[in-house]
Amino acid sequence: MKQVNVALGSKSYPVYIGSGLLARAGSYLKERGFNGRLVVITDSTVKKLYGDMLGQALEGDGFQVDILEVPPGEEQKTLENAGRLYRGLTAVHAERATPVLALGGGVIGDLAGFVAATYQRGVPLVQMPTTLLAQVDSSVGGKVAVDHGQLKNMIGAFYQPEMVIADTNTLLSLPEEELVNGLAEVIKSAAIRDGSFFSFLEENMEKIKSFDVNSLEEVVFQTVGIKAGVVVEDELDMGLRHILNYGHTIGHAVESVSDFRVKHGNAVAIGMVAAARLSHRLGLLDGDEVKRLRQLITRAGLPVEVPGLGIEKIMQAMKHDKKVREGRVEFVLLKSIGDTVVADDVSPSLIREVLAGNG
Ligand SMILES: NC(=O)c1ccc[n+]([C@@H]2O[C@H](COP(=O)([O-])OP(=O)(O)OC[C@H]3O[C@@H](n4cnc5c(N)ncnc54)[C@H](O)[C@@H]3O)[C@@H](O)[C@H]2O)c1
Ligand SMILES: [Zn+2]
Repeated sequence: MKQVNVALGSKSYPVYIGSGLLARAGSYLKERGFNGRLVVITDSTVKKLYGDMLGQALEGDGFQVDILEVPPGEEQKTLENAGRLYRGLTAVHAERATPVLALGGGVIGDLAGFVAATYQRGVPLVQMPTTLLAQVDSSVGGKVAVDHGQLKNMIGAFYQPEMVIADTNTLLSLPEEELVNGLAEVIKSAAIRDGSFFSFLEENMEKIKSFDVNSLEEVVFQTVGIKAGVVVEDELDMGLRHILNYGHTIGHAVESVSDFRVKHGNAVAIGMVAAARLSHRLGLLDGDEVKRLRQLITRAGLPVEVPGLGIEKIMQAMKHDKKVREGRVEFVLLKSIGDTVVADDVSPSLIREVLAGNG
């Protein structure tokens, strides 16, 4: 078992990472002072795989467990489902001190986290991420939200969990495309902050892709460490935390222009390569480093070319990004693998050239 501490003063919390941790969740919860009633929120896919097993293990440890479930999928991340879950919590007599355990991918982490942040003005939240994306990204950092119409994550809060329990064994049942989806954020984290972790990924990509559990544990540990390091310096996303958006400016635009047919990880991969090429064109990043990034992304099974969606549509969509301030589109650029600079004055003509594949 590995552990990362997210050091946020009185809101600090541990992230436990390792294989078989769900079966031991009861002892972590007791250590943190919880006893009695717990509510697990999960989706129906994850409930079958791990929810019932987790419920039994917790009952074996003396907890009284209720499980609330929603169907799987991004379209479930709504205020309507939050409302259903509030009613579910009331029906099982959840109180202010009753912890909510968010067992599942990022959809469940965000939805159950939002419910925990708002039910009775906030009940304790435990994140139990079961996808690679959720283990390395969404379960750490305290952003919780639901979607509003077509607008993703529009209604939400900053609400830090009491702890995160990332059981790396759960990754073994993931469809390959979900593993690959999470790998985009892993490569992103290495590219912005940690050149030696990037080298580790170059050396171990085949093992990672074949679901080697030790390699996966190291990947989760390193990536959570990077995210935690950024979050403790900028909990509320006012500055440094923007670097986590590397690849996301063009990525979000590609996702939205494709009507979300291009998956998030694929879109971010395309965005990372485009942003690296922009960095090179601006004289910040060596051409060989762009090549390294492209190669690693390709080996992970992610795309590197901007799909034929129409450059002007992508340019327009970028202007509607949440990160745009006073009409200026913000780009996270690379100075080297492991180091970034943020710019909001990249010329639209250069962006167009890079999107068109020139340079
Ligand atoms: N809060 C944040 O900081 C943050 C950061 C990044 C992403 N997100 C959010 O995360 C969400 C995406 O998360 P995701 O990619 O985990 O998607 P997801 O939660 O939809 O999970 C993907 C699919 O995998 C299934 N699944 C989950 N665990 C499984 C397992 N162990 N084995 C087999 N199948 C399993 C789920 O049922 C689902 O069908 C988006 O809504 C995004 O906005 C939030
Ligand atoms: Zn992302």
